[in-house]
Amino acid sequence: MTVPFTTTSTREVLDLLALYESRNVTFQSASGDWPIVWERALGEKVWDAEGNEYIDFTAAFGVAALGHARPEVVQAGQAQMARLLHAMGDVHPHRGKALLCRKLSDLTFKRWTYGASEHHAKTIFCNSGFEAVEAALKTATLLTGKTGVIAFQKGYHGLGYGALNVTSRQHFRAPFKSQLKEFGFFVPFPTSENSSFVLNEIRALLHQKVICAILAEPIQARGGINIPPQGFLLELRKLADEFQVALIFDEIYTGFGRTGDWFACDSDRAIPDIICLGKAMTGGFPLSACVGRSDIMDKAWPVSNGEAIHTSTFLGHPVGCAMALANIEIMEREPIFKQSEKRGEQLEQIIASWNWAENYRGQFRRKGLMAGLEIRRDASTCAPLAIEVIQSMLSCGFILLPEGDEGEVISFTPPLTISMQAVDSMCSSLKTILQQKGVLR
Ligand SMILES: Cc1ncc(COP(=O)(O)O)c(C=O)c1O
Repeated sequence: MTVPFTTTSTREVLDLLALYESRNVTFQSASGDWPIVWERALGEKVWDAEGNEYIDFTAAFGVAALGHARPEVVQAGQAQMARLLHAMGDVHPHRGKALLCRKLSDLTFKRWTYGASEHHAKTIFCNSGFEAVEAALKTATLLTGKTGVIAFQKGYHGLGYGALNVTSRQHFRAPFKSQLKEFGFFVPFPTSENSSFVLNEIRALLHQKVICAILAEPIQARGGINIPPQGFLLELRKLADEFQVALIFDEIYTGFGRTGDWFACDSDRAIPDIICLGKAMTGGFPLSACVGRSDIMDKAWPVSNGEAIHTSTFLGHPVGCAMALANIEIMEREPIFKQSEKRGEQLEQIIASWNWAENYRGQFRRKGLMAGLEIRRDASTCAPLAIEVIQSMLSCGFILLPEGDEGEVISFTPPLTISMQAVDSMCSSLKTILQQKGVLR
């Protein structure tokens, strides 16, 4: 039986949302050309309520790493739904939760080694990414008895009241500032020029002895695809060791192949104490994880006396776990990360061949298939231009998103399985639009 939808057209859906959804959720442009209403998605393609086809260069916030609705992942979810739709979080568990805990251990601390000693991982499952970050912050506080967290300017760790303390952007924080505990200490995200300055700032904060953790995205996603200099993450590791604080990597965006390896920290061979995962883990079900080194997790969290001190109704949801296991199994079996690197190189080569008009310059940043193009006019970024370009690209059939504090970066995070033709045709439309706007020659 299919669910009867009584409304079909884009206009009807948007009108319903305008009337019944809270303000400040779905943005609708005055011109009516943003947003589209998604009806169906498969692989790299999305179809809207009018039947128009699009290529998704966002993987829907990086979630659909293997493309939308990969059949094996959908089947795993459907089979799980039919067998056991819901279990009891921290009380009566189900098999999939145990199997996924072990799999995440194999992919992280089992695969990484600390000198001669061997470790495994222990996991706390959550629903959204921000909850995984909050579970990591709780772990660090339990571990050290301290509350301060060093985080980075332009960093994004989600918007719950815990995570908001370590998400720097004022747009999100300012309206709720009076309710925040303000335990985040922000330092600039490093560039090749200021890296030693940033490390000194961190050292100075650590000397204050109130810090329980250093929290970093190995590559900033929503902050504008900002890539730290090679070796920076290792320096964070050294500082965390020296001052006995937890090193937390938020790989909610970068995890599961996005940057060409399982995790972005792999390329620096920098190993955190806790890694936060979400988004692409399931390919499309809200499940996230706070995965910590087993000895650290055991030191932080007491044995349960029957009532967990951190849990939630849907913790380790059976459908999410089944989908994650199927999703990861495909990533282990198929050379998807390697192929995605080729698509990243293709994108980079095409953009590098463009001729910028006088006064304009494009700064392209990329790791694997996580890329951003920041357009500058003279010395300034051009956020309104980037947003206009993204809107024009939508009418040409390409879904893109802006990142950065003002939306100044056009980001590219397509499914890792994106085709060569899709990259070519997206670049050719983007080039035409930039030429029409006088940005490219
Ligand atoms: C690095 C990072 N951490 C945390 C989050 C928050 O995840 P969620 O929106 O699922 O709460 C995001 C979301 O974009 C993210 O990119």
